[in-house]
Amino acid sequence: MRQKHSDYMQWAKLQSKARFNLATSGVAAFPLSELPCTIDQLEINGDSTYGYAPLQQAIAKKAGVDPDSVVAAAGTSMANHLAMAALIEPGDEVLIEHPAYELLVSTAQYLQASVKRFPRFESDGYALNPAEIRNAITCKTKLIVLTNLHNPTSVLTPESTLREVGDIARSIDAHVLVDEVYLDAVYENTPASSFHLGKEFVTTSSLTKIYGLSGLRCGWILAQPDQARTMWRLNDLFGAAPAHPADLLSANAFQCLDKIRDRARAIVEADRALLADFFASDQGHSFAAVSTQSGTTSFPRLKHGNGDTFLNDLREKHETSVVPGHFFDMPGHFRIGMGVNNEMFTEGLRRVAEATHS
Ligand SMILES: Cc1ncc(COP(=O)(O)O)c(C=O)c1O
Repeated sequence: MRQKHSDYMQWAKLQSKARFNLATSGVAAFPLSELPCTIDQLEINGDSTYGYAPLQQAIAKKAGVDPDSVVAAAGTSMANHLAMAALIEPGDEVLIEHPAYELLVSTAQYLQASVKRFPRFESDGYALNPAEIRNAITCKTKLIVLTNLHNPTSVLTPESTLREVGDIARSIDAHVLVDEVYLDAVYENTPASSFHLGKEFVTTSSLTKIYGLSGLRCGWILAQPDQARTMWRLNDLFGAAPAHPADLLSANAFQCLDKIRDRARAIVEADRALLADFFASDQGHSFAAVSTQSGTTSFPRLKHGNGDTFLNDLREKHETSVVPGHFFDMPGHFRIGMGVNNEMFTEGLRRVAEATHS
């Protein structure tokens, strides 16, 4: 049976919330009142056919690409769906990192790809290892899919490694899809999109996770112009046109994107310091964790006891939610999200520690 749902997404929508919600991946919501926009600048209908021109230009300018290489999409979610749908045919082999964001896997399955996985190991600090990709490819591999920063661990893949992955893809005439929705959480020397590394690369991103603008659904794909045209035409089958007021607000947000990003930075960095203290005081007794310099998620492993019982107690007795590791095919792990609210994060972590004693 062809996959037609995502268990993770249903859980995220219906069950992830708790009084102390550490099951997040994005930063706190950015309020409309702080955008430099007034109601008279909004309009309901307008020219949003194959992209609203000012928004196309703003995305292109941010990414340092020609607007012909930009495909606007409803969030990184739709960007990933469109990119995959344009790049593969049913039966093609798609190689996806493990652990991975579940939607990448279920979308490829929905598109009737033959999904294979390549591992990122805890013992290597979850680094992307091109040798694992080289081992897993076959002549049927058409697409290699990864996230940078990595969801769930937030590990950054350096440019030299991405270039190696590009070389592998080129050698078998495949593409590399890099989901970069968390890349702008590298606040200093933010890496450029890997789109710039070669024609094999197609990348996706949005203003959702790191900017707190999820409700605008402003996402995009960077692709070669001929691929971009295919994706625009494909999008006609899915959503035809975006909501014009959202395009107007998104174009407006691009005028002060650095300010919007900085607003969350202090919270993300304070939460990361709290998490580092938390793991330091645990001394590796209850949790094994790979720490990172940036990103909004961490993926610790529970060293003792039953993961399901722990997560259940955490929620039922301690009113705290995290993302269960089984959504990443790694039960025994769980994902913690940073960047929403320092007080909530502090108390949530205290309750995570408490749950290990109950
Ligand atoms: C790796 C990754 N890609 C895409 C998304 C979805 O992003 P968006 O809200 O922009 O659709 C998420 C959300 O958690 C994610 O973690």
